Amino acid sequence: MGWRTTLEDTANAMAAPGKGILAMDESHPTCKRRFDGIGVPCDEANRRAYRELLLTAPGCAEHLSGYILFDETIRQATADDTPFPALIAATGSLVGIKVDAGAAAMPLHPGEKATLGLDGLRERLNGYRELGARFAKWRAVITIGDGLPSAACIRANTQALAMYAAFCQEAGMVPIVEPEVLMDGDHDIDVCDAVTRATLRAQYAALAEQDVHLEGSVLKPSMVLSGKGCPQQASVAEVAERTLACLLSTVPAAVPGIFFLSGGQTAVRATEHLNAMNAGGDAPWRLSFSFGRALQEPALQAWAGEAANAAAAQRQLALRARLNGAATLGEYGAAMEEAA
Ligand code: 13P
Repeated sequence: MGWRTTLEDTANAMAAPGKGILAMDESHPTCKRRFDGIGVPCDEANRRAYRELLLTAPGCAEHLSGYILFDETIRQATADDTPFPALIAATGSLVGIKVDAGAAAMPLHPGEKATLGLDGLRERLNGYRELGARFAKWRAVITIGDGLPSAACIRANTQALAMYAAFCQEAGMVPIVEPEVLMDGDHDIDVCDAVTRATLRAQYAALAEQDVHLEGSVLKPSMVLSGKGCPQQASVAEVAERTLACLLSTVPAAVPGIFFLSGGQTAVRATEHLNAMNAGGDAPWRLSFSFGRALQEPALQAWAGEAANAAAAQRQLALRARLNGAATLGEYGAAMEEAA
């Protein structure tokens, strides 16, 4: 059963103690939103320069087991012509690739989205593997709202994720299964908890139906949080406790790693939540991070599109990588923010 061992080895390397994943796979529209925030044109040259800055930041690789790239990024190279995948491999980290085609408005279901991209997936995965990718990502979004999510939304998204995961494993790549429950809305934490449980239950039923080898897969969930607009915001301790309880009752222990997305939390709050979950220390899976914004935002602000700011931006990224690495071990403390 060689293919299973290969997948398990990759998944276990992703979940190495003290390490997490940098999500830097923003599609062009998402990248434009981030660059608009700092007044930088979202052209190919700027995207390449920014991604080179992230990938060459000193002091990051020891806290990052993998990097998730976008289709454009996996084909790019440094200014002195080192292909990005080779750069990542040289640090001992793993190359990941976003393979979904984005979340589209769901037909007949106003306010909900379904992630598309199964057409041609087998061929794309094989191509990415040739370029060096060893794991992949597919993100689905579940929206909470009046009467939402619908059963149709949960079913369509979790089934597509399961089929994607099967294609990944066929191609020898570890699937990151990402059913994100959005934090937008004024709902309280109980609602988020119930929706996350329903989503993850459906997710693991769908993965079982597709015969996905769980030991060679990882989960990228959202945390159980109060809605962004909810007047009553749950404490760090409550978020940690509710998220752990939710995962314990829905995610099989065979899954080697759970890598949270940050979803719009501040960088510091995301680190605090992750640390609180690891402080107890007895979860059956490794609990780590696969943050986009919570790793990149301070670096993006420091960069502001100026080559002269690159080193300062890299220090911000290295700081978040180090502190989140500590949080995967339950060893993060607020004093480490000031000491930096
Ligand atoms: P955020 O951490 O910014 O939510 O991004 C993670 C990610 O990769 C979303 O798909």
